[in-house]
Amino acid sequence: MTTLNPPILELRGIVAGYDDTTVLRDVSIAVPENGVAVVLGPNGAGKTTLLRSASGLLRSSAGEVRLHDEVVTGASADKMARLGLCHIPEGRGIFPSLTVRENLVVYAPRGERRDALERAAAAFPVIGRKAKQLAGQLSGGEQQMLALARAYVTKPRVVLVDEASMGLAPLVVDQVFAFLSRLASEGTSLLVVEQYVDRALAIADVVYILDRGQIVFSGSPGDVRHSDVFDRYLAVDTAAAS
Ligand SMILES: Nc1ncnc2c1ncn2[C@@H]1O[C@H](COP(=O)(O)OP(=O)(O)OP(=O)(O)O)[C@@H](O)[C@H]1O
Ligand SMILES: [Mg+2]
Repeated sequence: MTTLNPPILELRGIVAGYDDTTVLRDVSIAVPENGVAVVLGPNGAGKTTLLRSASGLLRSSAGEVRLHDEVVTGASADKMARLGLCHIPEGRGIFPSLTVRENLVVYAPRGERRDALERAAAAFPVIGRKAKQLAGQLSGGEQQMLALARAYVTKPRVVLVDEASMGLAPLVVDQVFAFLSRLASEGTSLLVVEQYVDRALAIADVVYILDRGQIVFSGSPGDVRHSDVFDRYLAVDTAAAS
């Protein structure tokens, strides 16, 4: 088995939820430095809640979050972003009534805006071509590219990506995964939630399966294919991905 780097982002024993509902029950995961951790699991398992707990959007009721081996439990989403974490949420999280350019500039530090836009346009040429268009007028795929381009604007160390391929045409899904591979190869650590199991496993260094708020499997992509949890939770996806 390949050895994983020490974690850059780690959740230990996280308990979190909404009002009276506990969603995550004692969840521990680690994103290796310069590596890709993939979280898979059925609808409603708590995957989005897990990412929100990691990025400071949701406060945990128990457990610990560590970034760069420092305890950051309870830090706000802004603080986590300043510490190098970028969360690209489910549903894209772009501002439809702002232009493409404005959508990116809001995240760029002052004095770095031009460079930031150039980096984003180099990653996604459509961003350069449509910089002045309203984001709401872009196609679904282009909106997802815009959402992902934030990872080039803020130069994060860790990027959390929630179902980036959701609802996209197969060709665009290919582009999304090509982008994730590129980010990873450039040394950005990734925590990826995905519905396309095969493609997600292809970029993963470590895989977690979450079911009803608990980790029911953790291991390498090779191990998950040979484990009994694969058939139980993941085999159905093959049809969706083809
Ligand atoms: N804002 C909220 N308020 C109350 N309950 C919520 C909220 N968001 C999610 N939940 C509940 O928490 C549980 C986990 O939801 P979550 O969105 O984290 O799952 P998921 O694994 O991301 O699902 P999906 O695959 O559908 O995206 C579900 O039962 C959901 O109904
Ligand atoms: Mg979700």
